Amino acid sequence: MTGQRPKGLIPVQAKRHGRGILLLAFGLLFFASSVFAAGETNIVQTVSPPADSIKFLFYLLLAVVGAIFLIVEGALIYCMVRFRKREGDESEPPQIYGSKPVEIAWTVAPALIVFVLFLVVLRSIVQIRKVDVPEDALRVVVTGHQWWWEFHYPELGVTTANELHVPIGDDENERAVFLDLQSVDVIHSFWVPQLSGKMDVVPGRTNLLWFATKQPGLYRGQCAEYCGTQHANMLLRVVAESPEEFERWAAQQAKPAVDDPKVAAGRQLFMSLACMNCHTIKGTPANGTFAPDLTHLMSRQTLASGMVENNPKNLRDWVDNPQSIKPGCLMPSFQLSSKQLDDLVAYLETLH
Ligand code: CUA
Repeated sequence: MTGQRPKGLIPVQAKRHGRGILLLAFGLLFFASSVFAAGETNIVQTVSPPADSIKFLFYLLLAVVGAIFLIVEGALIYCMVRFRKREGDESEPPQIYGSKPVEIAWTVAPALIVFVLFLVVLRSIVQIRKVDVPEDALRVVVTGHQWWWEFHYPELGVTTANELHVPIGDDENERAVFLDLQSVDVIHSFWVPQLSGKMDVVPGRTNLLWFATKQPGLYRGQCAEYCGTQHANMLLRVVAESPEEFERWAAQQAKPAVDDPKVAAGRQLFMSLACMNCHTIKGTPANGTFAPDLTHLMSRQTLASGMVENNPKNLRDWVDNPQSIKPGCLMPSFQLSSKQLDDLVAYLETLH
């Protein structure tokens, strides 16, 4: 290199630095907002033992790495300022080669930190992977589909989709919920941050996940493993309610569908079109298992796996052309006439 510096090099580098710092700042801001922002998918507003355990780990790790960051950066900045080159001082700083005590200290301290963290993580794993299922635990078979969730309560004879109802517990009775996670197609991941950590939902095997909460409310979740086009819209909701409300809900869900003669035309359409090959409506010939059980469709708050509110307009738009709401979803449009749509939707709206 000659002494001539290429023109413009410094400004470009400075600009790049500025951009990097800006990016870093935005990244940190985004991280903070996604972790701490109030909302139902918040990982620090936990209401269940497995989630509490993960939150504790998160804060502990944040504190440890935060302290290390401050110590290292502090020492760095202190040395840069304190030992900077001063004007008129041409002397060489003392050259030091190695120091046994310092070497030992910075080997032993990190090893100890890692060991302590290992023990804490181990404790959390044991807590989260509880294998002794309490006798009164609620069991639900959760099946991941592209792109929706099936919830089957084997002991209650209830099958529903996308909205999981569970009873809350109290100080005497935890009312733990144990989920058997299965998939019929690709790998999904069940994640309701306020209740528990993520658990993969893998075809050909059953994974166990549990949670328990004393706090009634709506907890939102999301598929957390890329599973295709509509992965981001594979939402789920957990409704935690009092044991009485839960019993009432389960009793209603276990009943066969209402058969209202006023909507016979729509019912007839449902059974003559391909609908019945994919959907089940208990008490009718429709017993498909490829798509959500519609026996009590109207008891659900959302359509399309939590994407849109379950109201007459959205329901009609969905039946008319599901692709307009959820592009790539596996339900086709049947190109129905306006009259057919009216009849079909009128029938679906009776399914309480
Ligand atoms: Cu299912 Cu991502």
